Amino acid sequence: MPNPGEPGTIEVRFVLNGRDVTVVADPAERLLDVLRYRLALPGTKEGCGEGECGACTVHLDGLPVNACLVPIHQVRGRTVKTVESIDPASLGPLLEGGATQCGACTPGVVMTACWVREHPELLDRFDTRELMAGNLCRCTGYDGIIESVEAACRRDGGSCARGGGGGRVGRGGEDAS
Ligand code: FES
Ligand code: FES
Repeated sequence: MPNPGEPGTIEVRFVLNGRDVTVVADPAERLLDVLRYRLALPGTKEGCGEGECGACTVHLDGLPVNACLVPIHQVRGRTVKTVESIDPASLGPLLEGGATQCGACTPGVVMTACWVREHPELLDRFDTRELMAGNLCRCTGYDGIIESVEAACRRDGGSCARGGGGGRVGRGGEDAS
C-alpha cells in the first residue's frame, strides 16, 4: 500500500459499512480492488470487470453501483456498503428459492435485492426483473432469483439495516487508518 504523500497518490476517507476508513491510493484505482485487496473485504466479486455483470455491486450513498467502474477518488466523503454488511440470516429466501448455484453472482444479487427491499416504491414503477437486470447470472435461468427477491420483499417488507425493520446489517467494515 502506498504511503501518505507518495507521488501520484491521494488520501481518500469514506464511510464503509458504518465505519470511517482512510486509504492512500492512486486516484484511478478501482473501488473493487480497494475493497478486496486493501480492506480485506473479498465478498465483492469481479466478473467481467467492465460494468456488464453486476457481480461487483455495492451501495454508494444508498444506490447500487458497479465497484469495478468506480475510481476510488469518487468515493471521497461518501458512504459505501458491501455484502459483508448484510446479515446472513437475511439470505434465507435466496437460499431457499433456487437463486444460487455457483454463487459467483450472488453477492451482487444480494446487494441489488437489498436495495429493492429498502425501496418498495420502485415496485410501483418497475417490475423485479427490470430492477435486477443489472445482475447477470450464468446458472439459474433467473426465475429463481426473481422469485426469491420477491419472496424476500414479501417476507421482510423493510430495511436491510440493523434495526431498520428487517434487522439486516451485520458487522462493520475494516478501518484502514
Ligand atoms: Fe463489475 Fe462485472 S465485475 S460489472
Ligand atoms: Fe452462478 Fe449466478 S449462480 S452465476
